[in-house]
Amino acid sequence: MSTASITLTTLAAMKARGERIACLTCYDASFSRLLDRAGIDVLLVGDSLGMVVQGHPTTLPVSLEQMVYHSAAVARGRERALLVTDLPFMSYATPEQAIASAARLMQEGGAQVVKLEGGMPMLETVRRLSELGIPVCAHLGLLPQSVHRLGGYRFQGREPDSAERIRQEAMAMEEAGAVLLVLECVPAALAREISRSLTIPVIGIGAGPDCDGQVLVLYDILGLNLGQPPRFSRDFMVGRHAISEAVSAYVTAVRAGHFPSPAETLY
Ligand code: KIV
Repeated sequence: MSTASITLTTLAAMKARGERIACLTCYDASFSRLLDRAGIDVLLVGDSLGMVVQGHPTTLPVSLEQMVYHSAAVARGRERALLVTDLPFMSYATPEQAIASAARLMQEGGAQVVKLEGGMPMLETVRRLSELGIPVCAHLGLLPQSVHRLGGYRFQGREPDSAERIRQEAMAMEEAGAVLLVLECVPAALAREISRSLTIPVIGIGAGPDCDGQVLVLYDILGLNLGQPPRFSRDFMVGRHAISEAVSAYVTAVRAGHFPSPAETLY
């Protein structure tokens, strides 16, 4: 494995070569070092930490302060992987607030890319952040920060009009300057079409095997989900004794296109 730092240029080249990008969530320095050495390309400090670390039922209680704290810890453990950090709920309600919050994630939290959830209403914010040199990862499909408006953690884009909306949002995000796109819980065929039509890398979660990369919540792949793990996830600890082996197996499965399998794909 190369020890060169992963940059957005690296990810763009991987997409061009058809080499899949392996991404996992990460919340602390020790896991950051372990995941990085196991070959993970992108470490996502997700606001899912509100659920898996803090024990909340949603991501909504997570504060900007807490995201800065966890991002800085992951940045200290990181050696080569690209560091993407979530803007938490209500830290980017206006473009001005988004700029101030993103600046804290980058300056204090060591983030190299900031991620935000939402479609058309977020376009101006993505444009402004991009113009200021702040790399943005857009997040479409199931938006966990909008769980109450969506009526639960529901699969998105099954109906033709909502699929078309997600398609349009994805193109608009790229046009506004987003450098990466996360697609969560959308039909595999829609995710494939979007991945093929965009220039920027598309990272899927519950979005089938044909995205440019995959992301999962770290605790899910380590079998630490105390509830019902999502059907699109896989416990990579099964049959393995070391966390590093499980993470390496995840990287290998993503690269080879063996994860997600048809049984782990939602249609
Ligand atoms: O917060 C998070 O972990 C995420 C992933 C589910 C993509 O946004």
